[in-house]
Amino acid sequence: MQVTTRRPMVAGNWKMNGDTSLIKTMQSTLAQADLSNMDWVICPPMPLLGLFDKSTKLGSQNVSQFDSGAHTGETSTSLLKEVGCQYVIIGHSERRQDNHESDQLIAEKVKKTLDAGLTPIFCFGEPESVRDDGSLFEYLSAQLDAVLEVIGISAFADLVMAYEPIWAIGTGKTASPEQAQEVHAFVRDYLAKQDANIAQQQVILYGGSVKGSNADELFSQPDVDGGLIGGASLKPDDFLSICLAANKLG
Ligand code: PGA
Repeated sequence: MQVTTRRPMVAGNWKMNGDTSLIKTMQSTLAQADLSNMDWVICPPMPLLGLFDKSTKLGSQNVSQFDSGAHTGETSTSLLKEVGCQYVIIGHSERRQDNHESDQLIAEKVKKTLDAGLTPIFCFGEPESVRDDGSLFEYLSAQLDAVLEVIGISAFADLVMAYEPIWAIGTGKTASPEQAQEVHAFVRDYLAKQDANIAQQQVILYGGSVKGSNADELFSQPDVDGGLIGGASLKPDDFLSICLAANKLG
């Protein structure tokens, strides 16, 4: 049996929310706790990235597939590194929908981010209709294959995955711990077909209406290694409870 060294992680996706005062309260709230067994990361809107103190691990919510040049409104990996970013959320369903990001573009962005030495938080997940029509695993495999084909299995060692069922995002309708575990185990098995060791070490977060009150039961599932948190990441006390739940796993 392989020993896992997966380090629990919680990433807060502030989306288009937050301000300098939330930065201060978030940092001071989390500084009070012993979170030494896990990593916590804040992914604020771009203009706030440079305003955190050095103790906070930072992620961006997007990155350009280009290096520089005439791409109005875009941000490159090197600019993200300049403001101390270590992670990049890629493939979030809101960007897939609002910005028409395809599986292919997402795979390109994952590659660009890895090449720059940053860690992608690669998001995938299904709409409710896919669960209803019984094609869940087929749908998720296609999302995973698009990235696998471009970066190869060995590069998965350098990224974090986040399963986010679209029907659970911002709806208050969390996946049950069993539903989350079923998909996380499926993903781990899917990767194991190509490399058992990488699959075993792969950090897979769950995202979709995680709160302080349900984090414990979700994170206690054997293949759930933490969470990607939207709404509750804007409430420092709730975010702290979620981080403490992940810290218990470490
Ligand atoms: P939610 O969002 O926690 O508000 O459901 C999760 C996400 O979109 O990453």
